Amino acid sequence: MKIGILTGGGDCPGLNAVIRAVAKSLILQCDAEVIGFREGFLGMIEKKYLPLEYRDVSGILTAGGTILGTHNRANPFEYFGAGGEDVSDRVVKNCQELGLDGVVAIGGDGTMTIAHRLQKKGVRFVGVPKTIDNDLMHTERTFGFDTAVAIATDAVDRLQTTGQSHGRVMILETMGRYAGWIALHAGVAGGADVILIPEIPYEIEEVVRACKKREKRQNFTIIVVGEGAKPRGGEQTVRETIEDSPDPVRLGGIGNVLAEQLKPHLDSEIRTTVLGHIQRGGSPTAFDRILSTNFGIYAASLVAQERFGEMVALKDGALTSIELEQVADKTRYVPVDSLMVRAAVAVGTSLGRSDLDIELTEPVDGLTI
Ligand code: F6P
Repeated sequence: MKIGILTGGGDCPGLNAVIRAVAKSLILQCDAEVIGFREGFLGMIEKKYLPLEYRDVSGILTAGGTILGTHNRANPFEYFGAGGEDVSDRVVKNCQELGLDGVVAIGGDGTMTIAHRLQKKGVRFVGVPKTIDNDLMHTERTFGFDTAVAIATDAVDRLQTTGQSHGRVMILETMGRYAGWIALHAGVAGGADVILIPEIPYEIEEVVRACKKREKRQNFTIIVVGEGAKPRGGEQTVRETIEDSPDPVRLGGIGNVLAEQLKPHLDSEIRTTVLGHIQRGGSPTAFDRILSTNFGIYAASLVAQERFGEMVALKDGALTSIELEQVADKTRYVPVDSLMVRAAVAVGTSLGRSDLDIELTEPVDGLTI
C-alpha cells in the first residue's frame, strides 16, 4: 500500500502530531509506503514530495507548524501557477504515476472541499479536521483549537493584571474567522466581562453599559472580541482581500473599531491587543497532542479499511467519521443556546445584547462543552 499525506490551509498546532500518528500507524500496522506532499495541494500539482519513513516522523510530536509545509492558495481547480486554470487532471495523473492508493488530507473546510472534489475525479482521500477556529461541520472539535484557546486565555489573564493596575478597558481581539469559538471559550476561561462573537451581533449601547457598570465597581474591564464580530445591523471588519485564494477574505481590526466606538462614551482609557498568529504558533497542548494522535490513528484505520471519502470526526466525545461531502463548503457556528453561551450569561458576562433570551433556572442535560 502506498499513501500520501498533505497539510493544507493555515498551519495549526498538532499538524506534526497527526502526520506522525498517520505515518507510524500505517507503517507499523500495514507495512505501507508513505510519502508527504510538500506545501499542501501545491505538492500534488507540482509532484513535490518526500518519503516519510518511521525515523522521519520520530521526534515531531510536540513541534509546532508542519514538517511538510502548507499553502492556503494552492487550489488545483483554480491554480494560481497556471493563471487560474483547472489543473485537477494533472493531480489525478500525478497520483496514478506515483501509484498512490490514497491520500490523507489534514486541513480545514477549504482542504476538505478540494479533497471532496478530487475524490469525485478518482483520487481517494481520508480527511483529518484541523483548524484553530473549531468551525468544521460534524465534528465537536478540531485539533489546534485547545492550544489557541490556551494561548488566548493566557493573554486575557495578562491583560487583566495590567488593565487592573491602570483602571483601563482592555480589548483582546482573537482569531476564529466567521465563528466565535475561540473568543467565547477564552473569554469564559479568563472570566472576561464582555465577550463579543460573530453569531451574536453586538449593540454598542449594551457594551457601553457593561463597561460603565465595571467603571463604577471594579474600575477596569476585559473585553474579548472574535475577529468576525460585528455590530447589530453592521458589517464585519476586513483586514485584506486576497484575490486568488480559496478563502479570499481576511478578517481583522474589529478590536480597534470597537475601541473607537466606545471612546466617546467612557471615562477610562482603552487599549486594544490583536493576538494574531501567536494563536497558531508553537507546541500543542497535551489535549491537542492526544486528540491529534487519536485522529491520526483513526485516519490510518480508515485507510486500512479502504473507507475513503470520509473525514475523521469527534461526536459525543467519541471518534467516528463523516462523509467529506457533508463537511465541504460548510461552517460550524456557535449555537446561541449553547452551554458556553449559557455559562457566560450565568456568571454575568455581557454578550453585548440586551435581548438575549436564555432561561437559566432549569438544569439542561446533554449540552456539551
Ligand atoms: O483559519 C485559521 C485562521 O488563523 C483564522 O482564524 C484567521 O482568520 C486566518 O486563519 C488568518 O489567515 P492568514 O494566516 O492567511 O493571515
